[in-house]
Amino acid sequence: MSVQTNDIDEPFFEDEVRDGAHPSDRARPIPRISIQAFCDDTRVADAVQHAALDRRLCKAHVSVHMGGIAAAIAHYAESPTPNLIIIDSALKGGQLLVDLDQLAESCDAGTKVVVIGRHNDVMLYRELLKRGVAEYLVAPADSMDLMECISNLYNNPDTDPVGHVFAFIGAKGGVGSSTICHNVAWTMSEFLKTNVTIADLDLAFGTTGLDFNQDPVQGIAEALSAPERLDDQLLDRLLTKCSEHLSIFAAPVVLDRDFDFSAEACEMVIDVARQNVPFVAIDLPHGWSHWSKRLLVQADEIVITAAPDLANLRNAKNIIDLLKATRKNDVKPFLILNMANVPKRQEISVREFEQALDLKVLAVIDFDSETFSQAANNGQMLEELNSKAKAIEKFHDVAMKLTRRKDTRAEKPNSALSAIAPILEKLKLKR
Ligand SMILES: Nc1ncnc2c1ncn2[C@@H]1O[C@H](COP(=O)(O)OP(=O)(O)OP(=O)(O)O)[C@@H](O)[C@H]1O
Ligand SMILES: [Mg+2]
Repeated sequence: MSVQTNDIDEPFFEDEVRDGAHPSDRARPIPRISIQAFCDDTRVADAVQHAALDRRLCKAHVSVHMGGIAAAIAHYAESPTPNLIIIDSALKGGQLLVDLDQLAESCDAGTKVVVIGRHNDVMLYRELLKRGVAEYLVAPADSMDLMECISNLYNNPDTDPVGHVFAFIGAKGGVGSSTICHNVAWTMSEFLKTNVTIADLDLAFGTTGLDFNQDPVQGIAEALSAPERLDDQLLDRLLTKCSEHLSIFAAPVVLDRDFDFSAEACEMVIDVARQNVPFVAIDLPHGWSHWSKRLLVQADEIVITAAPDLANLRNAKNIIDLLKATRKNDVKPFLILNMANVPKRQEISVREFEQALDLKVLAVIDFDSETFSQAANNGQMLEELNSKAKAIEKFHDVAMKLTRRKDTRAEKPNSALSAIAPILEKLKLKR
């Protein structure tokens, strides 16, 4: 039984929620099930409708009816029951139980029932559970409460996709989105010792293979051409292992094939990938298609990379506006300004970006042609090439933010400093 009153309409606008558990973490994507809601209160009906539009429920089929439990009893006397029935009822406990018993007579095996009631009553809750009700929520339940409840009922942490998906996209072509995606994913795998898969969706021109000095024969195109065949064994064969914790789903990078995959195929492939690893980083090409939009909207977190010029600002704004409209229950995307601070070049400042986009820039990475070009040509990550490169710290920050981990490096005392710390203290006292 849960009582929640927090308003979840605003998270897209709140940056401070990033460091803690965000309400949007409470619910995971919900499988392809049918859900029918019968409501007494229009606010509950609105909350169900609102949830139905969320990315997490995009596979589920949801219908909402008014009339509460009486309407449900009448309806199911003649129709088969769906996977999940949501009953919103203003009835008092005793009458509610009588009506639920009547509803149970026409419920098919396998149908789950969630009740939204008006009474915060433990005895009633126990009676409901005894009758097989899957969960009881106390009104007002918002759409995030509902999604969390459904997610708990239908997501099995042992078997269902649990990995987090991070989508990386450039506001313009060539702004360094793939480079950042690869370096951040590599940092996660090395630093957190967690398995990470990079899915290169730039099928014709992707650089994941090159950046990790790999030349696989098979990869993501084979999975996308027959997504229904993709299981753990096939996935294993199609992934290329780059290090203990990092695998890549490499792009074919050939031009004699057409790559007209459906959004559904992409989604199926990413779902299988995230069944197998805690983190999937999707390297999206700069370009706009049905499937790239779907992958972006469906991702758990989004990283937009922009260079500090006007076209990048405009494009970033368009992407962010689209995400604002389609991801009402999610936090804002992360924005990275890359290739910044080039001498003599006129650039749009961080402040101007933040004001225009109404968000905080997560990281500013300077233009550093020497390090980046050498790493790219060697097929190395920046940290492998030069552990002192300035951008490395930024990659760590982004990796920690995306995975909501605390960067323990910041807490480690600098050994050189700690040796002279007592002397510094003394000097401070003398001043
Ligand atoms: N901060 C930087 N300073 C200098 N060079 C950089 C920087 N970031 C990336 N690069 C270089 O810019 C080039 C383009 O990078 P990358 O391929 O990652 O961009 P992209 O946004 O993914 O491009 P595409 O639109 O083709 O997908 C690469 O050669 C990369 O090494
Ligand atoms: Mg790229």
